[in-house]
Formats: sequence, structure tokens, C-alpha cells
Amino acid sequence: MSIALVILAAGQGTRMNSDLPKVLHPLGGAPLVVHALKSGAALAPERTVVVTGHGGVAVAKAARGWDPDILIAEQAEQLGTAHAVAQAKAALEGFSGDIVVLYGDTPFISGETLEALAAARAAHDVVVLGFEAADPGRYGRLVTTGDRLERIVEFKDASEAERAITLCNSGVLTADAATLISLIEAVGNANASGEYYLTDVVGLSRDRGLSAGVVVCDEAETLGINTRAELMAAEARLQARMRAEVLEDGVTLIAPETVHFSHDTVIGRDAVIEPNVVFAPGVTIESGARIRSFSHLEGCHVSRGAIVGPFARLRPGAELAEDVHVGNFVEIKNAQIAEGAKVNHLSYIGDADVGEKTNIGAGTITCNYDGVFKHRTTIGRNVFVGSNTMLVAPVKLGDRSMTASGAVITSDVPDGAMAVARAPQVNKPGLAVRLMDKLRARKAQTKEGK
Ligand code: UD1
Ligand code: MG
Repeated sequence: MSIALVILAAGQGTRMNSDLPKVLHPLGGAPLVVHALKSGAALAPERTVVVTGHGGVAVAKAARGWDPDILIAEQAEQLGTAHAVAQAKAALEGFSGDIVVLYGDTPFISGETLEALAAARAAHDVVVLGFEAADPGRYGRLVTTGDRLERIVEFKDASEAERAITLCNSGVLTADAATLISLIEAVGNANASGEYYLTDVVGLSRDRGLSAGVVVCDEAETLGINTRAELMAAEARLQARMRAEVLEDGVTLIAPETVHFSHDTVIGRDAVIEPNVVFAPGVTIESGARIRSFSHLEGCHVSRGAIVGPFARLRPGAELAEDVHVGNFVEIKNAQIAEGAKVNHLSYIGDADVGEKTNIGAGTITCNYDGVFKHRTTIGRNVFVGSNTMLVAPVKLGDRSMTASGAVITSDVPDGAMAVARAPQVNKPGLAVRLMDKLRARKAQTKEGK
């Protein structure tokens, strides 16, 4: 059965108290809406439609950043969840499989749960994802007879007896596209909120003699984000899950609670992560690498046996080959560091290629930016870059070349050459002592004068 996902993401999220649309708040470094898209990806959807409203342009951009083929349906006014799904109709033109509706603010629905939901369509025309709520609060209640779902009643519209029901609506549901669209067209807004409730499709389907069923999942999966506090609780949960997963994968975390992961962090077996390391999005670490304390990594790749940190910063496009060493207070951006090369202290290597076994001395800077353009630095293999060398890009250092300490390199250095680019040293005999004596005498005089 082919599947189309419809992700509802038009709401403002007033309780976040934020200028940022709720579904763009990050969890594990990715916007909430991307988590919903990732969950939905388990169903290998043929089409995905994101319904946008508040901050629609930015929400569409985030969704398409994850998958450029995503379709966007605008909901100019938020008149309710059924109205939101109705906006996807044009984008679903010509699609004839099942529609699965997800919320953009509900990041933890698992792929297995969605597969179970989709599979339950074999038995029912409409299938709703429900959960047993510890505290049912204001959730919609699922009114059932045996294993048949009769209708969903919203908290505001529910009787005392209905409010006592603990089986609640997650908001996720599925039905055949034509059926769902026709049911939605029949939904009215004569209810306590004056909204078009998606939940009404269940009662309407029963009126038409169709069958509706429930798939029950763990309450934790249905957790929706409405406030900053809930977002932080969700972050803690995601971090706990990531920690458990990497440990399971054979990674050593010396102080697990102090390591911060992104939703997409990948770490190989027998890698060691020391305390207080942050993995921003887009990081892959190969087996046996060691990331030492207080390092911050983003959009980078660290190969087998490499050592990073302590206090290193790897920025997007940093690619470290096997056995590379990157030490303290070193920043690397958009640069390939070849096998066995070392950048051990206090350096900035940006927009550069560094060859095999090259050693970059302490305090080396690639001066990659002229204020308008970025330029590349190319350093060959077995090069020895002297401490405090400024490499004014664009510039090339040939294989087995050297630079003198303190050099300011503005033109290419041939293979095997030594570049000295600094003022020659002049020693003035006795001058240091004479100068000091003179200065001290001057200081003594001014004190007397006071
Ligand atoms: C909804 C369900 C409720 C369920 C609960 C689970 C309805 C009528 N009620 O209630 O049964 O227990 O979710 O959390 O569906 N949205 C739009 N456009 C709109 C309205 C909403 O895109 O016009 C989006 C929101 O941004 C949000 C989602 O749909 O992501 C759910 O809307 P929300 O207002 O939170 O519904 P609830 O009242 O929580
Ligand atoms: Mg809600």
C-alpha cells in the first residue's frame, strides 16, 4: 500500500512564548518538524505534505532542507485539525493510497508504531493511534465498544462519563485517501471550540457504516511539545536514548551525562568520548577515534584512530583522515587533514588541504578571508610549518617544504624549500640593560617630582 504523509505544522505554539514557530524549535539539533518527518520516513511515503501557517516560509524551508521533494500546503487561518488536513487536498491530487496524519510537534512516534498503524488498515477503514494516559488531562477521549472505535470526543465537549475514559487520542490517524478526504468534507464546526476537528472523522465514518479501530502505543511516544519545559524534558529524553544507543554500539563514554548528542550523531565501535563533549549536527566518528574533553564538533568526520582535543573545535567540512591529531585550542573548518597529519596547538585551519604526515606548528593561522572572499590554502605532504606561521591564502606549500617560525607566507613555496618570511634579527650589544636603566631613572624622577 502506498502512503502519503500529511504533517500538521501550522500552529503558532503560543505557549512557547517565542518568535520562532513551534515546530522549528530544535530537539537534538534538528527542528521538531524534522523529527516528525523522520518518524514518517519509516513508512517510505510516496508523498509528504507539510501543512504550514505561522512562520510558513521558514517551516517550509526547514522541511525541504530535510527532503527537497516535500510538498507544502498553506493553511492561512488555523480553523482546526480537519481544516488543516483539507488544505493538503490539492497536493494529494492523483494519489490513491493511504494517508497518515502526523503532528509536527510530536517528535517521538516510532517507526514500528507507524508500521503497526498502517498494518491495522487491513482490518479497519480508519485507524487511530491511541495511548493509555497516566493523566488524561485535556486529550481527546477514544470512545470504544470492545475493539471497535465509535468516536473521539474532545475534552471540552466530553461528558463527565467520557472524561473518565483514559484511552486518549494521540492525533495520529490513517485512512484511505479518498475516504479521508470525503469524511473531512463532512466535518462541521458546531462544537465547544468552533473548530473543524479531525477527530470527528471517526464518528462520521461509523455513521457511514465504515469500521474504525485503535492501535495503542506507549504514552511516551505521543509526547507533544507545547512549552519550553516540555521541550527541555524531550531533549533530556532524546539525550538519554542517544547515550544508551551509543553505549550499546560499543562506544566508551567516560562520563555519559556530560556528553551532548545530536539526533544524527554516528560513533563507531571502540571510540572513546571523554567528558564534556558536544556533538552538533552532522558528525560521524569512526571506530577507535578519541574525542578528548571540552571539544565541540559539527558537520565533520573523524576517521579511525584520530585524536581530537581537549578543547578542539571542528566546524562544518572538517575531515580528519586516519591517525590525525588535532590538539588543544585548534579550530578546523572546511579542511581536509590527510592521514597522520598533526595540528596540535592553538591553530586555525580553514578552507585548506593538509597533506599526509604534515606537522602544523603551534599558532599557525590560515588567513583565508580577505574581508570579501574566502581563499584556499594547500599544504603538501611531510611539510613542517613553523610555529606562528601566517599562511595568507590563496597559497600553496609544496611537499617536504618548511616555513620558518613567525613567517608570513604570501606566495607559494616550492617542494622541498624552506620559506623565511620575517625581518632578520639584529642584536644590539648592551642595549637592553641601558634601556632599562634609563626607564627606571625616569620613573624615579617623576615620583620625586610629585
Ligand atoms: C488534538 C486532538 C486531540 C488529541 C491531541 C493530542 C483534535 C480536534 N484534537 O488536540 O484529540 O488528544 O491533539 O495532542 O484534533 N494544527 C494545524 N492547524 C490547525 C490546528 C492545529 O496545523 O488549524 C496543528 C497544530 O500546529 C498541532 C496539531 O495540529 O501540531 C494539533 O493541534 P492542537 O491545537 O495542538 O490540538 P489539540 O487541541 O492538542
Ligand atoms: Mg496540542
